[in-house]
Amino acid sequence: MVLCVKAALKDAETVKAYLLEQGLFLDGYKYGKEDKYIYFPVAQSFESDLTIAFEDRDLEAVPKKEGLKELLADKLSAEELEHLKTSMDQVGSIAIIEVDEELKDKEQLIASTILERNKAITTVLKKQGGHEGELRLQTYDCLAGEDTRETIVVENGVRMKINVETVYYSVRSATERKRIASMIKDGEEVLVMFSGAAPYCCVIAKNTGAREVVGIELNEAGHELGMENLHLNKLKNVVLIQGDVKDVLPKLAQKDIGFDRIIMPLPHTGHDFLDEAFSVAKKGTTIHLYDFEAEGEFEKAADKAKAGAKRNKQEIKILDIVASGQHSPRTFRVCVDFVVE
Ligand SMILES: C[S@@+](CC[C@H](N)C(=O)[O-])C[C@H]1O[C@@H](n2cnc3c(N)ncnc32)[C@H](O)[C@@H]1O
Repeated sequence: MVLCVKAALKDAETVKAYLLEQGLFLDGYKYGKEDKYIYFPVAQSFESDLTIAFEDRDLEAVPKKEGLKELLADKLSAEELEHLKTSMDQVGSIAIIEVDEELKDKEQLIASTILERNKAITTVLKKQGGHEGELRLQTYDCLAGEDTRETIVVENGVRMKINVETVYYSVRSATERKRIASMIKDGEEVLVMFSGAAPYCCVIAKNTGAREVVGIELNEAGHELGMENLHLNKLKNVVLIQGDVKDVLPKLAQKDIGFDRIIMPLPHTGHDFLDEAFSVAKKGTTIHLYDFEAEGEFEKAADKAKAGAKRNKQEIKILDIVASGQHSPRTFRVCVDFVVE
């Protein structure tokens, strides 16, 4: 038996992020799932504001693979090992890592160790700064392996070509895309604002009975990748439009085009596009608005939706506020699901 944190499935991402951040996970076991709950193995009980319970469970053990720290134990000093960041994002065959300034001289060694450890990885890139500008782009340095920024990602049953430098794409949003897809009913007309390389569009078109999915993306390179991804997955019911949501949606609204569901995956500034969203919404339309909010302040995202509704003289009902990933130590990516009444 292993001590576990029991959390509702809808809170899984928030709780997982908290456990990772606090270093509370117990290694060596798979997560458990039963009914609407997930069970995370933890090293000890603790106090927090999370809606969780503690329970002893029989979890399946996983054979331990030697970690990066163990592999580098005799090649780095104790102080260097303290600075070693062991988490990384894997986008297809590309590993994306962050390296502390103190380990600058050892970054090639770290990257080649990652390559040797994981045969599915053929390129190791180092992040240069954060996601910048309107297009949310990031640049990288290649530390080891093939010097490329392009890869094929498999997510929720679709294959997508992604260039990590020319379009925003986050592997960490895959579970959220699945959550949205699971809500879509047959025959829905779906709008994905800020569609990027079309991960939401592809996942929805492939896995649901939506009648049509329309994606709008400003970034030309991202739009082109999106078009290739429709082709890769032989998707016929997706229309991708390259342009600014602020220019494209008034034209659709003029033609009286409306949607059953509108997805707004642009945290930080997405709420600035609520007027455009309401212009193509109708009674019963569900809107998913993304935002970044601090722990304990998720309601602020709903307040932004309510302010947008008031401005547009619309009545809305908040269905849910869901954390779908961590942005920084205390800030989460949240999604407000609401319906136009
Ligand atoms: C956070 S990314 C999300 C991309 C994609 N939906 C995904 O989940 O991978 C936001 C996207 O919005 C696009 N964008 C920003 N402002 C826009 C605008 N005014 N009109 C259309 N797209 C915009 C950016 O280029 C970027 O690709």
